[in-house]
Amino acid sequence: MAPQMSFIGLGQMGMAISENIFHDGKIQKPLVLYNRTTAKAHEHSERLGGCEVADSIAAAVAPADIVWLCLQDRDAVEEVFAEILLTPIKGKLFVDSSTISPEATNSIAERAFREGGEFVALPVMGAPPLAVKRSLICIASGKPESVDRIRPFLEGVICRHVIDLSGEAPGTAELLKLMGNFLIMATIETVAEVNVFAEKCKIGTANMNKLLSAMFPEPPHALYNRQMLTGEYCSGNAIVGASKALQLASEVMGLANECGASVKIYETAVENLKAAEAHAGPDVDITGIYGAVRLQSGLPFENRLKESQ
Ligand SMILES: NC(=O)c1ccc[n+]([C@@H]2O[C@H](COP(=O)([O-])OP(=O)(O)OC[C@H]3O[C@@H](n4cnc5c(N)ncnc54)[C@H](OP(=O)(O)O)[C@@H]3O)[C@@H](O)[C@H]2O)c1
Repeated sequence: MAPQMSFIGLGQMGMAISENIFHDGKIQKPLVLYNRTTAKAHEHSERLGGCEVADSIAAAVAPADIVWLCLQDRDAVEEVFAEILLTPIKGKLFVDSSTISPEATNSIAERAFREGGEFVALPVMGAPPLAVKRSLICIASGKPESVDRIRPFLEGVICRHVIDLSGEAPGTAELLKLMGNFLIMATIETVAEVNVFAEKCKIGTANMNKLLSAMFPEPPHALYNRQMLTGEYCSGNAIVGASKALQLASEVMGLANECGASVKIYETAVENLKAAEAHAGPDVDITGIYGAVRLQSGLPFENRLKESQ
C-alpha cells in the first residue's frame, strides 16, 4: 500500500521537491504540508490541490508513514526534531533533505532510532530551478531497508541521479554533500580568477568565455561563468547567498581541519566570499567571489561587461 507522507519545510527547495513527490511519487493523498510560516503551506496546498495543511508539527507527524524535511539549517532541524520527538514516532521514517553537519545528523538520527523511528539523510545537490526540473543529485545514507522505502521517490521523481550510500551512518551523506559544496566554491574561485586574469592581460573575458565554454560546455563552469560575465553575481538576486554559504563553509573547514586535509584553494575561496560579503552584504550571491578577486586585482567589484570584453 502506498505510504502516507507529510512534508515539513516549504522553502524554495521544499516546495519543488514536495510538488514533484505530490505529482509523481506514489503516495496516499492527501499529502500533508507543514511550514513554520503557515501562509506558505496554504498557498502551496491551494496550487497543488489534494493536500492538507497541518497547523502543528505534531499534527503533521501523526498521520504519516514518511515525514520528509527540508529546512534551512542545523538550528531549524534541531528545533523541529525537538518537537517531533515529543510525539510517538515508532515505525515512522524521517527523511532529511536539509544540508547540515554530519555530526548533527547522526545525533538527530540516533534520537529518532531510540524512539523506534527510522532515519535517512538525503541532502541534495542542485539549485531550486534544478529541483523543479527533477534534476537534483540526491545522496542517501541510512539503514538499507530505510533507504529502500524512499527509492520510489528518487530517480525520475525528485532527482536525476542518486549516490547510494545505504548501510552508512546518516551523517555520511551530509559529509559527501559538504564536499560537493567544496567543489562548487573551489570551481567558482577558479573561474573568477581566470576571468580577472583574462581581463587584466587584455585577452578579455569574451575570449576566455569561448575557451572555457569549449573546454567545459556543461555547468558548473559555464553556469558560474555566465553569472560572472552577465553581472548576475552583483545583481542582488542571489541563488545561494553568501551568509548561508559561509555558514556551511565553516562546517567544511572544521571537517578538513579535523582530518588534517590541506584545502588551500577552498581557504582562498572562503576569504574571497567573506570579502564579497563585506563589500556587498550578506545576500550577495556566492559567485560574488568574482567581485572580490576583481577588487584584489585593482578592478571594481561590479564588472562592466562591454568595457571588459
Ligand atoms: N537553495 C539551494 O540552492 C539549495 C541547494 C541544495 C541544498 N539546499 C539546502 O536545502 C535546504 C533548504 O534550502 P532552501 O533554499 O529551500 O531554503 P529556504 O528557501 O530559505 O527555506 C528554508 C525553510 O526552512 C524553514 N525554517 C527555517 N528556520 C526554521 C525553524 N527554526 N523552524 C522551522 N522551520 C524553519 C523555513 O520556514 P519559513 O518559510 O517559515 O521561513 C523554510 O520552510 C537547506 O538546508 C539548504 O542548504 C539548498
